[in-house]
Amino acid sequence: MNWPHSCISLCWIYFAASRLRAVETADGKYAQKLFHDLFEDYSNALRPVEDTDKVLNVTLQVTLSQIKDMDERNQILTAYLWIRQIWYDAFLTWDRDQYDGLDSIRIPSDLVWRPDIVLYNKADDDASEPVNTNVVLRYDGLITWDAPAITKSSCVVDVTYFPFDHQQCNLTFGSWTYNGNQVDIFNALDSGDLSDFIEDVEWEVHGMPAAKNVISYGCCSEPYPDVTFTLLLKRRSSFYIVNLLVPCVLISFLAPLSFYLPAASGEKVSLGVTILLAMTVFQLMVAEIMPASENVPLIGKYYIATMALITASTALTIMVMNIHFCGAEARPVPPWARVVILKYMARALFVYDVGESCLGPRHERERTRLSKVYDKLPASNLNAARGKGLSGKKDSHELVKNNLGCQGGSPEDAGGSCARFAALTRNIEYIAKCLRDHKATHSKGSEWKKVARVIDRFFMWVFFLMVLVMTVLIIARAD
Ligand SMILES: *[C@@H]1O[C@H](CO)[C@@H](O)[C@H](O)[C@H]1NC(C)=O
Ligand SMILES: *[C@@H]1O[C@H](CO)[C@@H](O)[C@H](O)[C@H]1NC(C)=O
Repeated sequence: MNWPHSCISLCWIYFAASRLRAVETADGKYAQKLFHDLFEDYSNALRPVEDTDKVLNVTLQVTLSQIKDMDERNQILTAYLWIRQIWYDAFLTWDRDQYDGLDSIRIPSDLVWRPDIVLYNKADDDASEPVNTNVVLRYDGLITWDAPAITKSSCVVDVTYFPFDHQQCNLTFGSWTYNGNQVDIFNALDSGDLSDFIEDVEWEVHGMPAAKNVISYGCCSEPYPDVTFTLLLKRRSSFYIVNLLVPCVLISFLAPLSFYLPAASGEKVSLGVTILLAMTVFQLMVAEIMPASENVPLIGKYYIATMALITASTALTIMVMNIHFCGAEARPVPPWARVVILKYMARALFVYDVGESCLGPRHERERTRLSKVYDKLPASNLNAARGKGLSGKKDSHELVKNNLGCQGGSPEDAGGSCARFAALTRNIEYIAKCLRDHKATHSKGSEWKKVARVIDRFFMWVFFLMVLVMTVLIIARAD
């Protein structure tokens, strides 16, 4: 920067500063005079246009500051807005030079004419007056009026995809009495201003596009313009996932386990009923916050489906319990069931007899231990009996006879002891027969029990799959 240049700029700064000081000192006096001159014969009741055929243009700009509340049940959005309206007042102009360069003043807004722009879809019960904030009046008649407002607007809430839903709330502004030929309304920008938005904990704001609509009622009537701001909202769903969805998913995974519970515990049905009650509690919680609309929310559908599943599983459990307690008086297991259920299904579902599955190895060990004990015994009749396998009735007869010393005892004892022996044999045979019968009935009962267990296992997997599919379906909705 060379010398003459900087001198000039310094001089300019000095000149400007002195002039500014003069304006400041003169401001008060001139503002008084201006105010007096402007409002001497001004009426704020009439539309300020020189020619009444001319339209007065109002520019509207809305800044969203905060979403205070979204009431899904009553479909009301409460928002904190700053509304800026800009228009030209043809009667409030002045020549700056006559007032020492005064180019704008701030005056209470109720002194000037204001457009009667209201929120059409207002859902507030009290008719709130516009706030009497100041307006900024420029020398050429441009009036800028900023007013804060807490608006309650009706908003069609569609909860079909709750808690993964998006909502669109319209805020429609228009003049209440003037038609489009008298007061026309424009949006300053093509969207609402979100730069001062305070982040909401429940909703993400995805934009606020603005659009001007002109509605004409009938063929030749005047147009009625309005500006609609569409607030695009997306619910932050983590709260609902943690509090409503995860507990329900966890509980519903318990439902198939009621099939796994042993029937002897007697808790199978009560487990199902308990789960059903827990689901009902969650369902009531959701029903409380949702509007009573036709659209069932996604989470509500999930609850209903889960509850239906649990009801079905409890009903099936009761039926399977009936099979389990079929007992010995029942018919034997039909042959087809023996083949299909006891042979193929049992194998496919890994259902074993109790002895095979958890007691299996121990059983085996027991047997080997016993055989070792037998081997250690001196070569006796017992060993011989084991060798013969006690197969024929005759053999055992012989054996018992031998052991009781029916042969080879003293002759005088022989007659008495042999009679005793015959009675004893009859008793033993009777006991053996009883045991055999008992074993047969027992095996019939246990066959039914095994059928029940196979069916139980089958339903457990079916219901487990269904719960899994439902959970995957609802999680797939989350994005
Ligand atoms: C109002 O806006 C319309 C359309 O932009 C324009 O034609 C008209 O001149 C404007 N009127 C005034 C008074 O500025
Ligand atoms: C909201 O406003 C937009 C644009 O004017 C319109 O397309 C939409 O149908 C309105 N929605 C409702 C629910 O009124």
